Amino acid sequence: MSKTQENLTVAFAGESQANRKYLAFAAKAESEGQAGLAKIFRVAAEGETVHALKHLATMGGVQETLENLKGAIAGETFEIEKMYPGFIAELEVEETAAKISFTNAEKVEEVHQKLFQDVLAKLEAGETVADADYYVCGVCGYPAEGEAPEICPICGAPRSQFKKV
Ligand SMILES: [Fe+2]
Ligand SMILES: [Fe+2]
Repeated sequence: MSKTQENLTVAFAGESQANRKYLAFAAKAESEGQAGLAKIFRVAAEGETVHALKHLATMGGVQETLENLKGAIAGETFEIEKMYPGFIAELEVEETAAKISFTNAEKVEEVHQKLFQDVLAKLEAGETVADADYYVCGVCGYPAEGEAPEICPICGAPRSQFKKV
């Protein structure tokens, strides 16, 4: 990998993280009644998304959809089989919040992996992918098709926590 390719990879990771961080900071400011300040965080977050996507495109990180799907499946599989099991194995007994964060994510990655695999199979069979409604759990990220469940099957959050995508 060239130095610039390496730097694009680092810059993409940093800008992506800054985007999510600023959105979290905006939510915090919002909860403190600071609407104007929250907006500034969201404005910066939006700009970091522009940077992240530009870096990703420049480093060739977006390919044809079939390739993108295979890459997405590989990423989810890595997280399910290696990353989260490794992180969970390294937890100290008292680190319960991190344990919940890792295990919830790991379980949702399994759902993502299956969603991507099903879609890939459809595309490879020449079928189209239906434009269905999805609801994502705001606590763990679990995606439900059609309608939000009464209770999230992964984290137990109530229906009110689900957000339509
Ligand atoms: Fe995922
Ligand atoms: Fe959930």
